[in-house]
Amino acid sequence: MRIGVLTGGGDCPGLNPAIRAIVMRGMDHGDELVGIRRGWAGLIDIDVCELNLAVVEDLVRQGGTYLESSRTNPFKQEEDVHKTISHLQTLGLDALIALGGEDTLGVANKLAQMGVSVVGVPKTMDNDLCETDYTFGFDSACQVGVEAADRLHDTARSHRRVMVLEVMGRHAGWVALETGVGGGADWILIPEVPMGLEEMCDHLCQLRDRGKHYGLVVVSEGVEVPRGEGEEEVLVDSFGHVSLRARGVGDFITQEIETRTGFETRLSVLGHIIRGGAPSAFDRMLATRLGIKAVELVHEGKFGMMASLKGNEIVGVPLEAAVTRLKVVPQELYLEVKTLFNK
Ligand code: F6P
Repeated sequence: MRIGVLTGGGDCPGLNPAIRAIVMRGMDHGDELVGIRRGWAGLIDIDVCELNLAVVEDLVRQGGTYLESSRTNPFKQEEDVHKTISHLQTLGLDALIALGGEDTLGVANKLAQMGVSVVGVPKTMDNDLCETDYTFGFDSACQVGVEAADRLHDTARSHRRVMVLEVMGRHAGWVALETGVGGGADWILIPEVPMGLEEMCDHLCQLRDRGKHYGLVVVSEGVEVPRGEGEEEVLVDSFGHVSLRARGVGDFITQEIETRTGFETRLSVLGHIIRGGAPSAFDRMLATRLGIKAVELVHEGKFGMMASLKGNEIVGVPLEAAVTRLKVVPQELYLEVKTLFNK
């Protein structure tokens, strides 16, 4: 078979190991693999490259995506949908494997419903995709988060400060939660739970009362903060997601802590640093298994499906089920770890 492969949305560690596995498993079947550059944009513009053993052999330890990525949404314009579908024919592709999160796989799902032979592979550092226990990219991101938290602890202690660490995660607080728990934060703020500024500041003051003169707060970029008068969030991508960059969540929290507690407080925003670098061993393994499964789904003719991790098994699940809602942090999980913030 001739199979196209694309990576869409924000990049994350694990995409390259997945591409490698797809190519290697495809070779077992005698497939020809075609790389489509820059996500759906590469199908609209016909921007392709060869994927062979020489190209992918070394990819397992590389971050980012060899195929490059974009947030292009072909469903924004009708002519792009037509181009996407007709270019699959132009390129002589029998099937397509799309690696992405809710947006990229949402497009894959719509195309599958229109009869396109497509299967999905779940990736996102946000870990917010349904129907899979984990997405690759998340574990690697949290390792960076925890390392940053450890470093901030050192300087917080030296200067008797509170350090605020803002991490990505868009609508879901998974990265903040795991970074905060693993990094020994004194408080974690995530979008799924009301902010509770007063409770947090009281706790930070209690720390001081019992002789701990520093603290670490991890905050997710997606936490709702009050907006200034007349301030509007206007920056949106082609999937309608508001850019969270300009909201200044970390700044707001930092100022509030300083004013309310009297602690000297500093902010570090981890931003895209969390998305780069070599994939963790967990992500390399997960991405590899998912890539292999995607090729199997193609050969079984199971289009409209996504490779997924359930427990320790890699299985196929309907794309439709994976993209209809986001997997956010359950309140119970947050309450469970809150025991770490009342001492
Ligand atoms: O979806 C992954 C993600 O890293 C989010 O956590 C973040 O909000 C967003 O991408 C950033 O997008 P961009 O790379 O387009 O700035």
